[in-house]
Amino acid sequence: MRKKIVAGNWKMNLTVNEGLVLIEELKKEVSSGIMADELIVFPPYIHLTAMVENAQNEILVGAQNCHQEENGAFTGEVSAHMLAASNIGHVLIGHSERRAYFNETNDLLAKKVEVALNASLTVVYCCGETLPEREENRHFEIIKSQLTEGLFHLTAEQMANVVIAYEPVWAIGTGKTASADQAQEVHAFIRKLVYDAYSTSIAQGVSILYGGSCNPTNANELFSKPDVDGGLIGGASLKAIDFIQIANAY
Ligand code: 13P
Repeated sequence: MRKKIVAGNWKMNLTVNEGLVLIEELKKEVSSGIMADELIVFPPYIHLTAMVENAQNEILVGAQNCHQEENGAFTGEVSAHMLAASNIGHVLIGHSERRAYFNETNDLLAKKVEVALNASLTVVYCCGETLPEREENRHFEIIKSQLTEGLFHLTAEQMANVVIAYEPVWAIGTGKTASADQAQEVHAFIRKLVYDAYSTSIAQGVSILYGGSCNPTNANELFSKPDVDGGLIGGASLKAIDFIQIANAY
């Protein structure tokens, strides 16, 4: 059975103290039991070590990015190996904000994915179309190229440590969610692509998360769909009560 995962992308939000308060609140809820198999938070780099120490493995902690090289003269950057050495277990690769504001292409992301897996991180690889791409009915084509060019160079063994997140750009931070049927349609398409590139067992084992204005009100319907294995949550992950409600929406 594939894992049910609810992950919170804090983006560039929360001070270290605000983050620590949130972790404490989440831990309390997790200790009394949640429906998701894994709860992961993705804080800004500077908070990672403080969060991982306080999360004590009850909540998993991941980074929002890593550099594509193993080390070297890349001022301001952080390597996958450094993350792993600080007990960070996950990394987001290919978030649409990185693609749009930092010019991250599928080719670059393919390198990041490789370096992260080599450092034994679990990769959460993001894909999703923009509004014009959806309106032109090009979303399947766009998602296919994001996965084929950025992810499918991996071996079957490496794919076992990958989670895929479908985040339609038009739904991120807009309050406009994909309907459960729209999400299911794309998730089933993604699972079929994984099946075509690998095998039934890899396709059935990969968790595919939905992201984009997911909240306590709509999570239940989204998570009721057979190919929606959880969520990658932005705004609603910053409040413990909302995030936990989403983690219980199965
Ligand atoms: P929102 O939940 O704020 O729309 O953000 C989604 C997202 O980008 C998570 O990575």
